[in-house]
Amino acid sequence: MSPFITNYTLPPLPYSYNALEPYISAQIMELHHDKHHQTYITNLNALLQSQAESTQASDIPTLVYLQSGIRFNAGGHINHSLFWQNLAPAQSAEAKTSAAPKLMEKIKQTWGDETKFREAFNTALLGIQGSGWGWLVKVDGGKEDRLVIMTTKDQDPVVGKGEVPIFGVDMWEHAYYLQYLNGRAAYVEKIWNVINWKTAEERYLGGREDAFKVLKASM
Ligand SMILES: [Fe+2]
Repeated sequence: MSPFITNYTLPPLPYSYNALEPYISAQIMELHHDKHHQTYITNLNALLQSQAESTQASDIPTLVYLQSGIRFNAGGHINHSLFWQNLAPAQSAEAKTSAAPKLMEKIKQTWGDETKFREAFNTALLGIQGSGWGWLVKVDGGKEDRLVIMTTKDQDPVVGKGEVPIFGVDMWEHAYYLQYLNGRAAYVEKIWNVINWKTAEERYLGGREDAFKVLKASM
């Protein structure tokens, strides 16, 4: 391992595997966290090592070749790190929208009411073709921040200038198939029970560094 590159590690789940039941099964959580997320990290570390070696060797063709893999696996690490933190057990205080007073105010201002926001978010999630993610994002609008619903394909993360991901929903089959089979609409409906509104509020009130702090903790 080059001394110049970071070796990322799997951030621990902030709750037990079965904490999100009955909405997300312990089996899904264990595989999703320990196998899928770990694989992105393992691949990312290997790619960053190759990148460091290629940089040292001034091997530009290889550097270009490595880019798409780095984007995919770093995106997978970023997205899943944010995702675990933006979920919470259904019975917890964090899973109640009252934990996000400022954010809810902005959501109502933007979409009219909470129901219309959820409908718009669900429509965006169900419109994703293939694998991807749906996000609620705070966008720096100059005078005033805006809230927008975004979808990203594969493991593309929300890292645009002035963008802060508030919470995301994983729409890869590995996130729901073992429990919901092809019932994407049911998964999308049920996941609202385990959204961590306290984390959402913190990300909404904070900046990019606050949203991405979990990544610093896993270096
Ligand atoms: Fe995933």
